[in-house]
Amino acid sequence: MNQPPGKPPRRKRYAGTHPRRFHERYKELDPARYPEQAAKVRAQGRTPAGAHVPIMLAEILASLAPRSGEVVLDCTLGHGGHAEALARAAAPGGRVIGIDLDAEEQARTVQRLAQLGLAVSAHHTNFAGLGNVLKAEGLAGVDCLLADLGVSSMQLDRPERGFGFKHDGPLDMRMDRSRGKTAAELLAGADAQTIAGWLRDYGDEPRADAIADAVVRARPEGTRELAEIVLRAHGLDPRRFRKTNARAKHPAARVFQALRMVVNREAENLDALLRALPYVLNPGGRAAILTFHSGEETRVRRALEAAQAAGLLAHTDLAGLAPSRAEVHDNPRARSARLFTATRSAAM
Ligand SMILES: C[S@@+](CC[C@H](N)C(=O)[O-])C[C@H]1O[C@@H](n2cnc3c(N)ncnc32)[C@H](O)[C@@H]1O
Repeated sequence: MNQPPGKPPRRKRYAGTHPRRFHERYKELDPARYPEQAAKVRAQGRTPAGAHVPIMLAEILASLAPRSGEVVLDCTLGHGGHAEALARAAAPGGRVIGIDLDAEEQARTVQRLAQLGLAVSAHHTNFAGLGNVLKAEGLAGVDCLLADLGVSSMQLDRPERGFGFKHDGPLDMRMDRSRGKTAAELLAGADAQTIAGWLRDYGDEPRADAIADAVVRARPEGTRELAEIVLRAHGLDPRRFRKTNARAKHPAARVFQALRMVVNREAENLDALLRALPYVLNPGGRAAILTFHSGEETRVRRALEAAQAAGLLAHTDLAGLAPSRAEVHDNPRARSARLFTATRSAAM
């Protein structure tokens, strides 16, 4: 997408006055060349294509409070928005280690952070195996740990990744495209009862049985097709359906969330991270976990409470801090975020 340096960008041709497709948004995809375009999109309460706006950044910085010289582990590097701020706070002498399952986005992030003069050592791996990352870095523990769960805006917005339904794309949904079954493959091999269970367990979907029956009949392979199945199961006509409130959730959001969680084994990975968390923090180390739905909230609250009861954590904040109204207004993707924090005991 990016133009070679020095060569004037050639205007893409698209129908109408504004680019609609992700790949036509070349000004947003190249913020170094068009910074004013990204700012314009942000001012409209939208996320520029190819970027991710870090959520509850001020609250996370305040709770992790990295000091110069400290080591920060960002378990969900994504676009590196949080990592960028944490790396600045830990300078001089400190450093950020980043983990992400998504090799494609990680390569772009490492390049972006390097252009800012920030060295972040990135590991393409699952945060469930964070002990191996520490071993590879020669560390016994870290001073700060962040996990910003779920998907990034880049993953959500790129049609070919299959996480979203704004544009049609293959039903992939793998954060790591080098392994595992796609959502289409899982749906093709599952019976209606199994699919309904996924939708109920991971999406609280009230029309789970009707959607599962329709999925088994159609075996959808595309995101648009699945979103239309969901709309019909809710008694809505896909040709007429328009969200009346731009900030409200689409009826298909719960189903896409549930499938994404199954494809990426998100619940199991989160449990593994939470089990390891008290042991990878240095004495007095701080952790911040950003959740996006009630299933994640319950898992985090339960695990941190148990670790505190066992004396592994000295302090926890389990209320689940919500973003400010101003942040939700500026970035509607923050609306369901809740922040949980913990501090490791000084000695065990
Ligand atoms: C919400 S985004 C993080 C955004 C990031 N904080 C920023 O400021 O740009 C979540 C990221 O976590 C990654 N991720 C999700 N589950 C993971 C796992 N089990 N192991 C490693 N990375 C994971 C996703 O690929 C995605 O890039």
